[in-house]
Amino acid sequence: MITKDERILLYYLAKEFYRGSGKIVDAGAFIGASAYCLASGLQDNPSITNRTGIVYSYDLFRAPNKHFADMVSDAMLTEVVHQRIPLYRLNAGCSLREIFEFQTGEFASSIIIHEGSLLDFPWDCRNSIEILFADVCKSVELNGHLLRSFIPAMERGRSLLIHQDFFTIWHPYIIATMEYLRDYFEIALGQVSCTRVYRLIKPVPPDLLAQAAAYEFSREQKTELMLSAADSSPEPERPVIFGALIRDLYMVGDLYSAQEQMNRLAGSSFDRCVGWFPKLCHDCPELSVDVERAARV
Ligand SMILES: C[S@@+](CC[C@H](N)C(=O)[O-])C[C@H]1O[C@@H](n2cnc3c(N)ncnc32)[C@H](O)[C@@H]1O
Repeated sequence: MITKDERILLYYLAKEFYRGSGKIVDAGAFIGASAYCLASGLQDNPSITNRTGIVYSYDLFRAPNKHFADMVSDAMLTEVVHQRIPLYRLNAGCSLREIFEFQTGEFASSIIIHEGSLLDFPWDCRNSIEILFADVCKSVELNGHLLRSFIPAMERGRSLLIHQDFFTIWHPYIIATMEYLRDYFEIALGQVSCTRVYRLIKPVPPDLLAQAAAYEFSREQKTELMLSAADSSPEPERPVIFGALIRDLYMVGDLYSAQEQMNRLAGSSFDRCVGWFPKLCHDCPELSVDVERAARV
């Protein structure tokens, strides 16, 4: 799910930034919001003449569980949709592809659908990638595949990597790997909801990319990378990076270090913590928090 601001961002980049030298990747397409925004921006991009087969959308197109199935049923199966696709409620595991196709149908010729695990789709590096939208790095393995297979096709000094899961507490490896690659990417845009946008400034040496993708760093290295990511980020973007680190330390059983970072977090500004801080407390019940501050979140 992407926010309104993230939708505007994707539309804007496809309309104003994209110049037609490479493809646009929509990795983690779900029921089509990101594909729609990218393809509609492409449609309104005045400098593009050929819009066929530009947006590569990847997804399993399956409702992973009942919660998702209910959410999509409630949000999507309105009367308008029922005019086109049969009336039914979705079950866990059922296909979402029909809904994706319905939602993005207006731009069907621009979008190439790749159904299945992203892990089974290595990128063909004869095609360059101008915009790489990543809303699929839900595991170390998926993040590794994206780095290993897609990043080499990005254009130096030009291509953008849009990491939709960067500003969350659930994917610490995204923060750590991007920090590891800091000499090769610059931050192109400050935080937009959960998203950080990077520009590739120079090609990443294959061995370095392989190391980032494997994510076989020691615990100390991971912590150092995340602290360094926080230090080099604008102040308002730091709390969520600390949040990701705290949860990561907690999950590997290092409660002492997690508490240390929690105390540090309590000293930073809390105005960007809305949404994830209660979830952090829920996931890490043995940590003590500054209750007065937490109450204000
Ligand atoms: C947060 S959703 C994406 C939201 C979407 N970008 C939008 O605009 O609404 C993440 C998506 O990643 C997909 N996903 C998870 N694991 C995947 C995999 N191994 N291969 C392909 N897609 C996967 C899920 O099916 C899910 O639709």
